[in-house]
Amino acid sequence: MAKDYSAYFTRPSAKEARKRKTTQTPIVSFEAHINVRHLGVGKQYLIQTYGCQGNEADTENMRGILEQMGFTATEDETVADLIILNTCAIRENAENRVFGEIGRLKKYKKHNPDLILGVAGCMPQDESVVDRLLKSYPYVDLIFGTHNIHQLPYYLETAMFGKERVVEVLSIEGSIIENMPKKRQNTVKAWVHIMFGCDEFCTYCIVPYTRGKERSRQPEAILEEVRQLALEGYQEVTLLGQNVNAYGRDFTDKAYTFANLLEDLRHTDMPRIRFMTSHPRDFDQATVDVLAKGGNLMPHIHLPVQSGSNQVLKKMNRKYTLERYLDLVDALYEAIPDMSLTTDIIVGFPNETEEDFAQTLALVERCRFEGAFTFIFSARANTPAASYLDETAMAEKKARLQRLNTLVNDGYLKGNERFLNHTVEVLVDGESKHDDAVLAGYSKHGKLVNFKGPKALIGTRVNVRITEAKTWFLLGVYDESLT
Ligand code: 5AD
Ligand code: SF4
Repeated sequence: MAKDYSAYFTRPSAKEARKRKTTQTPIVSFEAHINVRHLGVGKQYLIQTYGCQGNEADTENMRGILEQMGFTATEDETVADLIILNTCAIRENAENRVFGEIGRLKKYKKHNPDLILGVAGCMPQDESVVDRLLKSYPYVDLIFGTHNIHQLPYYLETAMFGKERVVEVLSIEGSIIENMPKKRQNTVKAWVHIMFGCDEFCTYCIVPYTRGKERSRQPEAILEEVRQLALEGYQEVTLLGQNVNAYGRDFTDKAYTFANLLEDLRHTDMPRIRFMTSHPRDFDQATVDVLAKGGNLMPHIHLPVQSGSNQVLKKMNRKYTLERYLDLVDALYEAIPDMSLTTDIIVGFPNETEEDFAQTLALVERCRFEGAFTFIFSARANTPAASYLDETAMAEKKARLQRLNTLVNDGYLKGNERFLNHTVEVLVDGESKHDDAVLAGYSKHGKLVNFKGPKALIGTRVNVRITEAKTWFLLGVYDESLT
């Protein structure tokens, strides 16, 4: 008889989740699991990461934990002893890709019966996904969610020695775990979580259920991490949170906000500070004011709007109006005149009319966005919008997406063109993907810049004079005398 796993997780419930109270989350320091440390010696791991930067950062924690256990990294599926898929649930096509991938990986279990295959991240936070994995993918050995990465050593111990499937998905977030080992992917740019979870409950979004309630890290822990990264030579950090503007809202012992955090980070030696993602409702004037001071706070703001129609914004539960959004954008342009503004937009929200959509197009022009992630609405099980009446045909939604993208691409190009003949500072990431004689990096405004120069420049900030502007990138010349 199939084992009953129901005790291990509960279905994310919109009703239950909405009863959340703002409480301060306990902080626990990660304990090195000495007795399981050696388990990975002589073994190789591979992690595939899907979705957002939050998942990228979680993968770095998994890598840190695994390497502490003695595992070494490999890119080669045929020799891996452990493969983990760190998954994303934000849209249906992200989930379908993962299920396809799990199917494809089955063959490696045949070659190597000791291979451990794990599914982690946001998808298992939904009970129906776990049901499907248990029923249709019996060769998946390990299933865990977003709240218990720090338990990975114990899960692996059970999977390796107990030879039984390990399924543990916590429906309720626990503590904030500090000092988890971390193996960063990049030696000059780092992700730094400032908070976890989301309490916004936009009606289309699965994140408040998969990532739990809002929990802010202590300012001292964040500042210490950024100072340490600066000492190690890191040039850029991106502060991460689903809604960074809500940072500190859960502190019960102090009044300390995102603006306070940015102000304190301004005084660190970290050359470049970015953050994502912002929520227009919670983005306050104090934050605009501190950003106006510039310095190491980069002039690129990602401010998801989702729609230009008040009636759609209301149905999305975004809790701001078009007018409020425009006021904020105006305040930002006034404070940071050369700012680069980007956004996220959903088209085809249930029963979005042509008139609603036309308002989104008008908003895009009005805001001078220099980039946007655009999506067709995807119904996520158990979210309120999944049950909204939706009579718009998919063909119509696709046509709207195309119209929107044409306008957005125009914004990308205009955003790049304004740097023609200017000299910009570029943090050099490495060789261009298309030509290894060319270097690639990002400017302060977040523009991709390609130029020729010695490899020794990789990992440094250099000045590049822009000679050509394309839609997706800038071309320039490195001139030592400019540096
Ligand atoms: N359908 C389509 N797009 C979505 N997003 C979030 N949930 C959905 C969904 N159900 C988009 C939003 C968000 C971005 C990260 O993903 O635009 O800002
Ligand atoms: Fe999802 Fe962002 Fe809304 Fe939170 S603020 S519910 S993460 S779209």
